[in-house]
Amino acid sequence: MASKLGSDALQLLQNKGGSPLSKSRKFATCSILLLLSLVLGLLYTNFGVGGFNSNGRVDPGPKVAMLEAPAGTIFWYKCGPDTRRGVECGSVIVPLDYFNVSKGKSAIAFARSKAAKSPRKGTLFLNPGGPGASARLMAGDDGYAASIVGPHYDLIGFDPRGIGETFPKVQCFPDPLGREIFVSDTVFEQGFTVSSNLSDPAMRERVITQQREWLAMKKTQAELCAANMGDSLRYMGTATVVRDIEFMTRLFDGEDAPINYWGGSYGSILCAYLVNMFPDRVGRVGIDAIANPVLWAGKPSHFWHRDSVAYTEDTYQIFLNSCSQAGPDLCALAKFAGENPGKIERRIDQFLDKLYDEPLSVPHARRPGVLTAGGVRALMFIHLLSQYYWPSFSKMLSEAMSGNGTLILNKLLLLYSGLPLPDLSYGSDLSRLAVTCLDSPPPETEADYPNAQELADIGLGTLKDVSRHFGMSVSISEPDGGCQFWPVRGPERFVGPWNHTLRNPILIVSNIADPVTPIASGRLLNSLLANSSRLLIVNAPGHGSPPSRCVTRIHREYFTNGTLPPNEFVCEPDELPFPKPGEAIWKSTSMSDDDLHDLEVAREFRNYMFEMKFQH
Ligand SMILES: *[C@@H]1O[C@H](CO)[C@@H](O)[C@H](O)[C@H]1NC(C)=O
Ligand SMILES: *[C@@H]1O[C@H](CO)[C@@H](O)[C@H](O)[C@H]1NC(C)=O
Ligand SMILES: *[C@@H]1O[C@H](CO)[C@@H](O)[C@H](O)[C@H]1NC(C)=O
Ligand SMILES: *[C@@H]1O[C@H](CO)[C@@H](O)[C@H](O)[C@H]1NC(C)=O
Ligand SMILES: *[C@@H]1O[C@H](CO)[C@@H](O)[C@H](O)[C@H]1NC(C)=O
Ligand SMILES: *[C@@H]1O[C@H](CO)[C@@H](O)[C@H](O)[C@H]1NC(C)=O
Repeated sequence: MASKLGSDALQLLQNKGGSPLSKSRKFATCSILLLLSLVLGLLYTNFGVGGFNSNGRVDPGPKVAMLEAPAGTIFWYKCGPDTRRGVECGSVIVPLDYFNVSKGKSAIAFARSKAAKSPRKGTLFLNPGGPGASARLMAGDDGYAASIVGPHYDLIGFDPRGIGETFPKVQCFPDPLGREIFVSDTVFEQGFTVSSNLSDPAMRERVITQQREWLAMKKTQAELCAANMGDSLRYMGTATVVRDIEFMTRLFDGEDAPINYWGGSYGSILCAYLVNMFPDRVGRVGIDAIANPVLWAGKPSHFWHRDSVAYTEDTYQIFLNSCSQAGPDLCALAKFAGENPGKIERRIDQFLDKLYDEPLSVPHARRPGVLTAGGVRALMFIHLLSQYYWPSFSKMLSEAMSGNGTLILNKLLLLYSGLPLPDLSYGSDLSRLAVTCLDSPPPETEADYPNAQELADIGLGTLKDVSRHFGMSVSISEPDGGCQFWPVRGPERFVGPWNHTLRNPILIVSNIADPVTPIASGRLLNSLLANSSRLLIVNAPGHGSPPSRCVTRIHREYFTNGTLPPNEFVCEPDELPFPKPGEAIWKSTSMSDDDLHDLEVAREFRNYMFEMKFQH
């Protein structure tokens, strides 16, 4: 939500800092104004009147007062529509810069649900990944987080620095439409167009041209952020977010209280920082879909991709096998049930290569355009993240293969055009880059800067050696990089060590075939933490553990009683791929009501996360 906190507080900063952002608004076209007023109208209705006091009265004044309040002050207000019932919402005032309190304040927006059962075991913080995703929806005693950790914790879902309703918020583009126009028909939207014939001699030149555009666009974005955000961009790094969690733990639970946490994907990076920055404060901590913290903090992002796509081809093979088994009624890409999956794969490769030579015209999409091989690869990659996507993706891909690209281009525009969904707290603007560019080391000297040729060779190497379909697609769906242009450095960068002995052991979960956070990263973190962690393996494809009674039970035992499974214990998923419409979606036909409820809650959460324009 571009809440009043977000937008008005930003105005406030702009008035002080003289940012051009408010001026450029004046030049907005009628359509932008219409769009904005629709969104704002919606927000104002939903928020009721949402001022920053407990009775929800409109009051234009209190934001100034809020930011002048001492660190540790909590302002309570009416919750927005993106929270669950029964939660309380507020903002915690924290120091903008933990190393210099004169820099001012930040207001961290959160939603909290109170422990449903005594004994209360403290506060537990949540993070769903991104970086860029809001966690406010995750709090609530009827949600998946509560199902996983049990009823004894107060759950806090908060918007990390730069994100959602937290102030300051990253807003480099003057408005969402400006951002959509910026990315439209560029490599950011269309992906890297490559051939499946990796010995095609013309391909390298083509990729270099695309990398040149990519670099120039990263530079443009960074310059926009410098102009419109200035110094406030310095305080978005993961180490700062860890200090916020520590600060809030002291505030809500008292000095030296243990820090409890559950998160996934980028949330596993936040966790690796958290437990190694505060090893003596670790309470109960669980993470899922593990990214590699050593690379994240130690290397620029063009070194990450080779590592992240280690299992993407495995996921793709599982997709093709499931499609073949499901047959054409459920998976339109298969000609008949039981067709050789290799044949399906070949048809898709042929389609991609046809697009490589000749993009498909798509006149009737949300925005008329063309479908390219890069665009389809990028979409295929993101749809491998969850089996939940597979039926609808098969339909849109098979329609495109028969010459109608409307559905698939619409999806591409939705995911990559930069236009946020009505819920503006997800994936909007450049909050992700604001985090990753402060976390990863920017090149030190001009000579370290990867140029377009080097980036092309790194990408083509990943394609050849690691993932022949998706080696160059990951940098589109995971939009990191170009940090050599980033205008600021943070007050602190944590770079390990990652092997501290923790006050309590933590629970780490990885799927066997995760297309973007491979199990190798789970094993790496687990081995670094030695006796301070256990790895739970889920025998499933996809990003983040799918609905599984086994996964829920193990988490609940751990968060309730501290019991951990044996290392590398394997859980099975409970959900069927390509379910028949109107028929069972679960593998087991006899389950208790409680088990069924747990699975439904897990499914609801997963579907919500993936329906959002939410990237990793
Ligand atoms: C702390 O921040 C203030 C305000 O920006 C600045 O004047 C001061 O020099 C900073 N102190 C240090 C030690 O950096
Ligand atoms: C791949 O490209 C090379 C060079 O143009 C060509 O000789 C070869 O036949 C192509 N392979 C396929 C399978 O099309
Ligand atoms: C193309 O697909 C869209 C979405 O499925 C459909 O509405 C449209 O009628 C199709 N166009 C043609 C020419 O078949
Ligand atoms: C922890 O990691 C550091 C830095 O990589 C290394 O020097 C140290 O030996 C490691 N400690 C243990 C106990 O493995
Ligand atoms: C880990 O635990 C085992 C069994 O309790 C013990 O033998 C071993 O020394 C421990 N290792 C470390 C590094 O603490
Ligand atoms: C925790 O331990 C208690 C006592 O042994 C037991 O009754 C309870 O079922 C356990 N809770 C979970 C979630 O495992």
